[in-house]
Amino acid sequence: MKRIFITLFFLLPFFQIAAQNYTPTAANLEARKWFEDAKFGLFIHWGVYSVLGDGEWVMNKQNISIDEYEKLPSFFNPVAFDATEWVSMAKRAGMKYITITSRHHDGFSMFDSKVTDYTIINKTPYKKDVLKELSLACEKEGIKLFFYYSLLDWHDDNYFPRGRTGNGIPGRSSSGDWDKYIAFMKAQLTELLTSYGEIGGIWFDGHWDKKTANWHYDEIYELIHDLQPNCLIGNNHHEGVKPGEDFQMFEKDLPGHSKHSFATKSEDIGDLPKEVCETINGSWGFNLKDRKHKSDKELIQYLVKAAGYGSNLLLNVGPMPNGKIQPEHVAALKQVGDWIKTNGKTIYGTEAGPFKPTEQLAATQKGKQLFIHVLDENANVIFIPGFDLPVRSVRFFKTGAKATNQINSFGMLIDIPENEKTPVDTIIEITLK
Ligand code: GLC
Repeated sequence: MKRIFITLFFLLPFFQIAAQNYTPTAANLEARKWFEDAKFGLFIHWGVYSVLGDGEWVMNKQNISIDEYEKLPSFFNPVAFDATEWVSMAKRAGMKYITITSRHHDGFSMFDSKVTDYTIINKTPYKKDVLKELSLACEKEGIKLFFYYSLLDWHDDNYFPRGRTGNGIPGRSSSGDWDKYIAFMKAQLTELLTSYGEIGGIWFDGHWDKKTANWHYDEIYELIHDLQPNCLIGNNHHEGVKPGEDFQMFEKDLPGHSKHSFATKSEDIGDLPKEVCETINGSWGFNLKDRKHKSDKELIQYLVKAAGYGSNLLLNVGPMPNGKIQPEHVAALKQVGDWIKTNGKTIYGTEAGPFKPTEQLAATQKGKQLFIHVLDENANVIFIPGFDLPVRSVRFFKTGAKATNQINSFGMLIDIPENEKTPVDTIIEITLK
């Protein structure tokens, strides 16, 4: 063991050079810590696609031509949009940050960009910068704002050579200048990081469209960290963390699970702060007919399980074209908020517990306090295999009553009497010696 450690110690400088000399600043490390403690954020997918009520991939899904799609902004007039209302909703839900799409794969900028005219200001009757309004409301309410930014663009000629998606969209260019596209992205990122106050992070997406392209991440990441050193960079590339990134994200999957073909492989999971993103129904962008809304119980248990992996949950809403968030989702967020109000101590500021979450159990930990979340309402007794930590006390979180337990050479048994069973999550607080 000692020898491995010494070898690793000598290899360390090599890894640091390989990481393009990216040394996070003290402010960045602090921001990472804040992020890890925050545990819960609101994802917002909003764009002119919401007009069609068929998700954010509608341009690709329905093969809408460039010319046809360019008509959409003229119908986008979200007169009922109220940034303060969105931020209050997030706050009430117990969320600590908001990540909103600044430009999605359709290439439409939802902010006042000066380096393209394909923007909310120039092309919609609304003409207002919704990101600006949101940034002001967030600042006022103490909510951090992150920007989602698509690397992939189905609209811009210079996104060339094209990738594997959007090839059925009529009217896409058959030539383009990749270097100009990279310069365009840098210019937009500069705008996003200089006109909207302090930005919590940039959330990249779309890498998978052209896995082997030269995205110039070294320059892009450096630019971001130069402009705002504590701005956290994450990239939804579904691969191992790349130099310059500050957190790792998991799309629609708990870390290490492979529910989807694009799941990040277990061996690619690193030590950076983690974030799982998930939808309330099955869609990111507003989808009128998506009725598969997850139950309050499913949402809360997903948050708990993510925390059990030491990960944040970024839970999504897709606002409607009028600027309102669909009532089912507002109601769901309120329920999650009610739950976290009483149980937040077992989530915020915690780390992953000593065992991996299962369908029945998850564990979070803060110093000597260990929180066992029993997710199976019918469990009369739980068993934690291999548990051998020195225990001072075992109590039910809700009532403070002592829990009958036994530790033997196989693990720990805890009895759950009927009157302590709590719907959704029975929490047991173990204080270690
Ligand atoms: C996928 C989708 C995209 C969505 C993202 C959110 O990458 O392409 O539409 O924004 O997931 O995780």
